[in-house]
Amino acid sequence: MRILFVCLGNICRSPMAEGIMRHKIGERKLELHVDSCGTLDAHEGENPDPRAQEEMVKRGIEIGNIVARPFEEKDFERFDRIYAMDEKNHEDIRERARNEEEQAKVMMTLDQLPDMEAGTPVPDPYFGAEEGFKTVYQLLDRATDTILKQVEDEEPQR
Ligand code: 4NP
Repeated sequence: MRILFVCLGNICRSPMAEGIMRHKIGERKLELHVDSCGTLDAHEGENPDPRAQEEMVKRGIEIGNIVARPFEEKDFERFDRIYAMDEKNHEDIRERARNEEEQAKVMMTLDQLPDMEAGTPVPDPYFGAEEGFKTVYQLLDRATDTILKQVEDEEPQR
């Protein structure tokens, strides 16, 4: 299973999702490929926002070596599931799908949580206070647990 997380800049939400997921994959010794990217190319080549890195370090997870990159059409072939952080990322990626199969790979991250209203975004923390990064962490911690459970149920022993 190959999973891609997508946000706008690929410096806050999606690298946090990637880091949390990598950490859990390591703990559970799962064979799962994970990556992240952004719909915007403005931050290409940058490491995650220092506030995102700091929030993750508090949880014992290092994401400082992640390098931002923009989404590209090839990602539809490289990944089985593409999780968007908000409705805009979701729309932007779905619009780039070249067929229904590619389009069906694109989902909203928090739609994986059964108690969330459909379409609930992971709020963009970039222009806000540091507290926003904690919220992002908490939401993504829950969402990644659910995604991993789905994968483990579908692909036992892996
Ligand atoms: P992200 O946050 O999409 O979670 O990486 C943002 C990063 C950069 C910008 C907006 C959101 N920006 O406008 O540059």
